[in-house]
Amino acid sequence: MNFRLRPQEPPSAASAAPTPAPPKLSFSSVTKGFDGGRGWTPALEDFNLDIQEGEFVCIVGPSGCGKTTALNLAAGFVRPDSGAVLVDGAPIARPGPDRTVVFQEHALFPWLTARQNVQLALEFAGKKKKEQEIVSRFWLRLVHLEKFQNAYVHELSGGMKQRVQLARSFAINPRVLLMDEPFAALDALTREVLYGEFQQILMGTRQTVLFITHNTQEAAILADRVVVMGGAHPGTIKAEFRVDLPRPRSFESPGVAEIAGKTLALLKHEPALLDAEGANGESR
Ligand SMILES: Nc1ncnc2c1ncn2[C@@H]1O[C@H](COP(=O)(O)OP(=O)(O)OP(=O)(O)O)[C@@H](O)[C@H]1O
Ligand SMILES: [Mg+2]
Repeated sequence: MNFRLRPQEPPSAASAAPTPAPPKLSFSSVTKGFDGGRGWTPALEDFNLDIQEGEFVCIVGPSGCGKTTALNLAAGFVRPDSGAVLVDGAPIARPGPDRTVVFQEHALFPWLTARQNVQLALEFAGKKKKEQEIVSRFWLRLVHLEKFQNAYVHELSGGMKQRVQLARSFAINPRVLLMDEPFAALDALTREVLYGEFQQILMGTRQTVLFITHNTQEAAILADRVVVMGGAHPGTIKAEFRVDLPRPRSFESPGVAEIAGKTLALLKHEPALLDAEGANGESR
């Protein structure tokens, strides 16, 4: 019999186990400090956090624990001293339209109308004029600002300005949306309405979000996962847990008060947080 042994073939691409996608946003052993007026301040030390695609992660923690520093690292506004911050597995070197930031104070251009503000972001993202118009109208309608799209920023209420920020952020379809206490300056009623609208958009887009708040109820309403930070100089992650309540959620949804209470219990040794507005829900 005349036969030859075939050399063993390497596994084909089809049969090989698929490589899992990297987290959408990843902090890996990140350390960051600042050389301020009072000398060196360590802000974060050995900070590790992975956020998966479509996940909504809320960071809750006392003032000065490094929440904004973490967000600024993800935005590319500052660089880590050691460790790495990655988006889709690639190190973040600078700010970019793939990571949109929404701050507590709106960052809209006052000399432009609501729609022009959204269009400008689309222009920066390289979209053509016609697409800018269609997309900005679409998103402003979604945040219920159809009638105010030609209003200037000073003609809008605080809630409306945050709606324009939301419209602008979602319009450019970022890989990660970074939000630093975006609703903190709003009254409780406006916040509750915005939670509903925001969740409706999230359920439709599956946008990946890193969201910072002092408000444990807000975290319980919005988060898929709550990350509790503690300490200061440097701050660290003390605990984290998943929130598997059905959406959309509101203050009255079953389980929300329980999750808020659980978060508050984890923070009870963090006095700076307890002084902060909304941390114990009394601001409602
Ligand atoms: N650019 C900077 N220069 C010097 N120190 C800084 C700078 N940015 C942050 N820090 C310091 O790093 C620490 C963490 O600040 P960070 O703003 O991240 O806190 P935070 O958790 O966001 O607080 P808050 O809840 O009050 O917003 C603080 O001690 C702060 O003073
Ligand atoms: Mg902050």
